[in-house]
Order: sequence, then structure tokens, then C-alpha cells
Amino acid sequence: MLTSTATPLTTEQAHLKIQGGYRLSGEVRISGAKNSALVLMAGALLAADTTILRAVPDLADIRRLGEILQALGVKVQRLGSETIAIDATDLNTNDPPYRLVSQLRASFFAIGPLVARLGVARVPLPGGCAIGARPVELHVRGLQAMGAEVTIDHGVVTASATKLKGTRIYLDYPSVGATETLMMAATLAEGETTIENAAQEPEVVDLANFCIAMGAKIYGAGTNSITIVGVDRLHGTEYEIIPDRIEAGTFLLAAAVTRSAITLAPVIPSHLTPVIAKLEEMGATVEFPDPTRVRFIPAQRYRATDIETLPYPGFPTDMQALMMTLLAISEGNSLVSETVFENRFGHVAELNRMGADIRVKGNHAAIRGVPHLSSAPVTGTDLRATAALVVAGLAAHGETHVYGLQHLDRGYWQMEAKLQGLGARLERYVPSAATSLVF
Ligand code: EPZ
Repeated sequence: MLTSTATPLTTEQAHLKIQGGYRLSGEVRISGAKNSALVLMAGALLAADTTILRAVPDLADIRRLGEILQALGVKVQRLGSETIAIDATDLNTNDPPYRLVSQLRASFFAIGPLVARLGVARVPLPGGCAIGARPVELHVRGLQAMGAEVTIDHGVVTASATKLKGTRIYLDYPSVGATETLMMAATLAEGETTIENAAQEPEVVDLANFCIAMGAKIYGAGTNSITIVGVDRLHGTEYEIIPDRIEAGTFLLAAAVTRSAITLAPVIPSHLTPVIAKLEEMGATVEFPDPTRVRFIPAQRYRATDIETLPYPGFPTDMQALMMTLLAISEGNSLVSETVFENRFGHVAELNRMGADIRVKGNHAAIRGVPHLSSAPVTGTDLRATAALVVAGLAAHGETHVYGLQHLDRGYWQMEAKLQGLGARLERYVPSAATSLVF
């Protein structure tokens, strides 16, 4: 059974009480990447064998996906606080239960491995979420191009194929998820598959390296053209997940807004290039004491700049909300253009309640820098928006209460402890059952 080692208590009324204005210092440990861990757990289904994944953060989403894999007949066991074992030898079910899948979009990643291993998959169509409709037609069209028959009835995607056939696929958009789904499916297809206009995110490369360690033949991951030569079967492996570049970016912004000098490790510096480039453009200094460590040195005043989110290696959409907390207190006017998701400005209204001056028009946000933010009760609407409000609270004058921790706990492991370890003054408040019944 996948048991958690540190399940933060979360209810609707739970919130973080953050005393702003405290400098941070010291070194913070970066955990394994959530967006690698989720897709690699699905990738483990490709082998009728046992796989050991290391540097797996103990997050709500990871636990949920573990439950889904167990519902498919797979053994999932947490071997330590950051290691899980997945034994997919007895994978025997092709339709994960709706009640579990509906809570976790990433469970759709199972469709590729299930079709490849069992010849049929019945996976509920993932719903939209706060940041957009999140359609999956690129995943579906790619599987169809590989010979799968795909129908969508009553909210369930059924994909079946006796044997997937390698082919040439062009993605209309370099979708991370579609690239990952099709790459996994192609590892066991007959013949060669090429994915053109593929996503180049580090998590795609991590998945490719994991599949290669399982015996897959994959070439070109990290470029916009990936070739996969199908093999008969894959075997288990032991694999360590890459550090989370978005968690690292989150701590860089926490240091930036509190004008603190901190060190982060482990990181893969090249994964942070877009974020570091913009922070240096704004006046910060970033050093690399060694190949897995980055040191951030703040500016006393930050220059405004413009941000446009793009597929990797462009500026990551997952860092857009976080970057806005710094732009809000920089000198001058900034323009933020969100080109990846259609509704990812949920944090703007909350930042404005903290004294920011941000106007949204379509997928653009115009920011006029203000001297400082002020505390307020605020609510996060998605994972990164909530993280941005925590970062804003670290810099705001007064005590900020951040609600929406159910979002935060999906993507950040031990965030309070890590921030407290750097000197931040914050604590989680979870009303007891008694108090929450008080009318
Ligand atoms: C992954 O989502 C990440 N999630 C997201 O991180 C991240 O923001 C996103 O990639 C972009 O980097 C995981 O890896 C679990 P996409 P994914 O397919 O795969 C459209 C976080 O905060 N699209 O590249 O869903 C889609 O609607 C999360 O950690 C289609 O139109 O991203 C979106 O507008 C949030 N049709 C754009 O492409 C499709 O078939 C990018 O989506 C697929 C996608």
C-alpha cells in the first residue's frame, strides 16, 4: 500500500499564516520533479516487471496516481520517504475507476501504456481545470495514427489495438502530455514512430531516459523531433527523477521578493535558464558554485520587464504567476502574455487585493510596479497561483493568510518546512472539527 510519510492536513478552511518582511538565508533542498514522477509512474506500466523510482516527492497527486495504478492490479509500495517500487507484472485491468481518475488529470497518462501492454484502455476523459479546458485530442489523434481505434462515449476514452504500428505523427501544438503519451505507446509498437513538433521540456527527456533504461529505443528527446523504434518488451529498472525546476523557480522568486541571498540544490542549471535569464535582466545575480547548485543574490531594486510564456525552452507557463509577484514590486511597467493556457490569471485579482496594480485584457496582463505589497486574506485557484500568493505573502507588509492549500499540496512537498528552514515566519492553520462546526 502506498502510505504517505508527510500528509499535510488540508481542509477548505486551512490556510497559511505568513508574517511578511523577513529575510531568507541558507540552502534549500529541491525535491524530485512532480511532472516527471507522475508520467514515469505511468511509464512503469510498460514493463511486466518491477521498477524503482527515486527522488519521488510525497505529494497528494503522487499518492492518487499510486492508488490508480493499484486499481489496475499493479503493486505500488513506498520504500522510503522518496522511493517507490512499482511492480506491473500482474497488470490486469484496463479501466481505472472514475472516482480516482476524476481527481487527477495526469492519470490520463495511463492510456498509452495500457493500449501498448493490454491492447485496450478505457480511461475517463480528463476534465478541465481552473487554468483551461485541457483537451486531449492530440493524444487521441496520435494513437489513431498508430492504428488504435479510439471512441469517446459517456466521458470515457476507449482505445484498442492488437498491436500499435509505428508511423509519422505531427503535433499541431508541442503538447507535453501528448508527446509523453505517444512516446510511451510507441516504445512497444511495431516499427518506427517519429513525433514531429514534439515538446522539448526536461520532463519529456526524463521520461525518454527512463524508458531507455527499461530497454526502449528513443532518439532525439529534447528536440522537436523524437524517433522511437518499437521493441517487443521492456524490463524494470531503477531510476532517479530529475530535480523539480518549477519548485526551484519558486524558491528563486521567494528569495527575489524578500531580497534574500539563498542557495538551492540539487538543480540542473540548464533547466532554469529561462527563469534565471529574466531575473538577471531585472537586476538579480545568479551564481553556480557547482554543477548541481545555484546561488541567488538579490537586487535592491528590480527593473520591470516583459514575459511571454512559451513551450520549452521558452519561459515556462508554470512560472508565470510566480514571476508576477516580483514584477508587481519592480520599478516600471511590465507586460505578461500567457500563450500556453487560456485562463491562467486567477492569481491577478488576489495580488491586486494585496496592493498590486495589474490589469488583465485577454491573455495579457499589464503590471505597474508598486513600492510594496500589503497583507490580505487571499485564495489560490490552482497549484502555481497558490504558490505565488505564498511568495507574495513573504514580501507583503503584515500577516497574509493564504487559502487554497489543497492546490499547494498537490505540487509542493514540505513547503512550509523548507521556507521555515530559510528563516521565513509562517505556519499552517487547520481548524479542528469542533471549531469548523461553530456557527
Ligand atoms: C504539462 O501539462 C504539465 N503537467 C503542466 O504543469 C504544464 O503547465 C504544461 O505541461 C505545460 O508545460 C504535467 O506534466 C502533469 P500541454 P499538459 O499538453 O501536458 C493544449 C503544473 O502546474 N492542448 O503541453 O497538460 C492545452 O490545452 C501543471 O505543474 C491541446 O489543445 O500541457 C494547453 O493549452 C499545470 N490539445 C497547451 O496545449 C491536447 O491534446 C499546453 O498543454 C493537449 C494539449
